[in-house]
Amino acid sequence: MDYDVIIRGTGRYVPERVLTNDDFARIVDTSDEWITARTGIKERHIVAPGETASYMSEMAVRKALEMAGADPAEVELIVVPTVTPEHVYPATASVVQGRIGATKAACFDMNAACSSFIYALNVATNFLRVGQYKNALVIGSDIMTSIANYLDRNTCVLFGDAAAVLYLVAEPRSETPRGIRAFDLGSDGTAVDILYQYAGGSAAPPTPRTALDEGHFVYMEGPEVFKRAVRTMEQTVRDVIAKENVEPLEVDWFLAHQANSRIIQSTQKRLQVPAERVYINIQRYGNTTSASIPLCIDELNEEGKLKSGNKVVLFAFGAGLSWASCYLIWEGQRE
Ligand code: UT7
Repeated sequence: MDYDVIIRGTGRYVPERVLTNDDFARIVDTSDEWITARTGIKERHIVAPGETASYMSEMAVRKALEMAGADPAEVELIVVPTVTPEHVYPATASVVQGRIGATKAACFDMNAACSSFIYALNVATNFLRVGQYKNALVIGSDIMTSIANYLDRNTCVLFGDAAAVLYLVAEPRSETPRGIRAFDLGSDGTAVDILYQYAGGSAAPPTPRTALDEGHFVYMEGPEVFKRAVRTMEQTVRDVIAKENVEPLEVDWFLAHQANSRIIQSTQKRLQVPAERVYINIQRYGNTTSASIPLCIDELNEEGKLKSGNKVVLFAFGAGLSWASCYLIWEGQRE
């Protein structure tokens, strides 16, 4: 049996502590002018002690389940896309399961870097579409400040911490197209070394040497990643909507992974769509990796800006070099 997969709840958790661009100017050789002009970021939130990936996830999930009127004990699947899991193992999803009492849920984490959220959304959608599970939580949760190098001005100013979630429900197929419709996923594994974290995995297990060599931090060749991001994001958006015979100008909301406002604006210009349809909140959060797209969705949902029938495209690009996009038709919350 084939089901429609509908987003019935959204939620987010953003730590209270804020680091402004002026705060960074006291740490490294930078300025508010440079960061604002080159990235669009004004401030980002960072965790306080005790605000772990699973804590942030729990807070976001409680909001989403309340919105959907769902009981945590009914949740059947928890997927946590993340590049900064709480531990190497067990999966952060299992820790979240214990925190919220989702005793029936299957749990695992996923990593496709900045594209993780959409990859995980695709996996969860497939479980629901075929009827293996009735519902799922997809929780983007990243503590990017745990892998940011506060001695490297090229990268440290870019990142922030947050968790955000979508609660998906499988519902009987409707005659009118609705819910999550199509995905486009990909990766160019020939350029893995322009954006990566060298140490901490099996290739370079953690040692005092890897720490001294700064191998546990984000390494990025920014300008090269930038160029590839713009080209690839445009293409993946075109490819995913073409699967449903939709043109760029028919799309109501373009929700991009928030890595740099200039990347998002360049993509918008290449797609030749109005800027008002492209949501940007990077000024308040920086790049929150797996949380960035559901953070956009939850904010728009809370503000009532997502209307039933709206055509929405999610798209992302990141290490791997991975990319992903999703086309969906928004369905409002149940009355
Ligand atoms: O989420 C995963 C995907 N990530 C991305 O898509 C990020 C892609 N890349 C970018 O967003 C941009 O490349 C950055 C924001 C990382 C950098 O912006 P850029 O315009 O590409 O700058 P750049 O790296 O070419 O650096 C230009 C100059 C350099 O100085 P010189 O060599 O011209 O003297 C940098 O050293 O800006 C300097 N610079 C800074 N100056 C002040 C680099 N970082 C800073 C800084 N403050 N924080």
